[in-house]
Amino acid sequence: MTTTKDELIQKLQTKTAKIGILGMGYVGMPLAVVFAEKGYTVLGIDPDQRKVDAFNKGVSYIQDVPSETVDRLHKAGKLSMTADFAALAEMDAVSICVPTPLRQTGDPDMSFILSATEELAKYVHPGMIVVLESTTYPGTTREILVPMLSEGATKLEVGKDLFICFSPERVDPGREDWTTYNTPKVMGGMTPACVEVATTWYSGALETIVPVSSPEAAEMAKLLENTFRMINIGMVNELAMMCERLGVDVWEVIEAAASKPFGFMKFTPGPGLGGHCIPIDPLYLSWKMKALNYNAKFIELASEINTNMPRYVVSRILEGLNDRGKALKGNKALVLGVAYKPDIDDVRESPALDVIALLRNKGATVQYHDPYIPHIHHEHEHWKLESIADESLLAAVREADVTILVTNHRSYNYPELIKNAQFLFDTRNATGNYLKPGDQNVVRL
Ligand SMILES: NC(=O)c1ccc[n+]([C@@H]2O[C@H](COP(=O)([O-])OP(=O)(O)OC[C@H]3O[C@@H](n4cnc5c(N)ncnc54)[C@H](O)[C@@H]3O)[C@@H](O)[C@H]2O)c1
Repeated sequence: MTTTKDELIQKLQTKTAKIGILGMGYVGMPLAVVFAEKGYTVLGIDPDQRKVDAFNKGVSYIQDVPSETVDRLHKAGKLSMTADFAALAEMDAVSICVPTPLRQTGDPDMSFILSATEELAKYVHPGMIVVLESTTYPGTTREILVPMLSEGATKLEVGKDLFICFSPERVDPGREDWTTYNTPKVMGGMTPACVEVATTWYSGALETIVPVSSPEAAEMAKLLENTFRMINIGMVNELAMMCERLGVDVWEVIEAAASKPFGFMKFTPGPGLGGHCIPIDPLYLSWKMKALNYNAKFIELASEINTNMPRYVVSRILEGLNDRGKALKGNKALVLGVAYKPDIDDVRESPALDVIALLRNKGATVQYHDPYIPHIHHEHEHWKLESIADESLLAAVREADVTILVTNHRSYNYPELIKNAQFLFDTRNATGNYLKPGDQNVVRL
């Protein structure tokens, strides 16, 4: 198969190009759906056979994508899914959306990008466009994708036979106002021709494309966004600890500061960072900088403060129990909300797991409730827990010596929790609007 740039652009414009999505998770699945909804024929390729089987039954395993959508697009022949990488040979355009976690040592785990690219390299052909979407350190596209894809058995010239770009996924799961479709998409290509081809493709389905001059600029833009959040959260977490020592209500301080109409952006403290992005992505940058003999000081400091928050929360709980003449050892703790943020079903890197582990290590009997997460397990400590049932929630709250609100799901009835808890430790200020002067049983972070 030989296709020139103009032929590929034409196929993309007429939506006759075949689109492949490598990695059909939280990022890949919504992207595949947007391309399919806008008229492309899309194939998701994922080695997880359980996901492929669910998909083929018309069942979505991603909260933001309704099963009806999957079923409709599948039946219309616009979206299908396979675990067979050989299907890549037929694709004109491929987005790579595989995980980029950290190793236990805190270093980037590039194994998913490497294995996906290795598979793709077997089937890469002239007239193909490849866009890496996984968050990663600056230099990945140029240093890993380009040699692996262009220097195989058939040598391909990047910008002429093969087009390679980096475009960071910025989606915020659970969000309805800014979605895969309307969140502007930064696009950095190896050459101007690469950006031109990728822009033709993506602008056929997404609202706004923001071209930049190189893959490194696009890789770094994503890291700036998430580092910005991580550092500001670290700063406000430290502010919470300082306010507690000063005897000042941190939540009141933040609201007061946020009344300034310019030059201030509101961040709120909490039990620690969670999710697949904010706690992890900046460490990809600091790792890369270490290789260049540079210490990314802001990232290291914020990471240290944020990582310590579960321990700080437990120290405040110990204090609160002590004030009530109790200990954690031998008593009951109930954690409410274990997802890493409200109203989603994702527990990855959730600080709730650390809070629960610390409570258990102090000898508490720990239960949890989360309407979105039926069970959890702690990988390193090898324990598993099941969520208590919704109908048992208030009874469990009444029985617990301490109830800890870790994730402020909208479905919780906060006045009821205040009324029923013996001691409620609120890490999110979810109760702030409902508290009355006599509510001594509630302590906020
Ligand atoms: N989840 C988010 O909110 C979010 C937001 C922005 C960016 N990102 C970034 O997007 C990337 C993907 O994240 P995610 O949340 O979708 O991860 P995910 O774990 O939900 O999905 C990744 C998928 O890739 C599949 N996979 C693993 N190895 C593969 C391979 N060799 N070939 C093909 N598929 C393979 C997995 O089976 C899984 O289905 C990460 O780099 C992440 O940092 C995630």
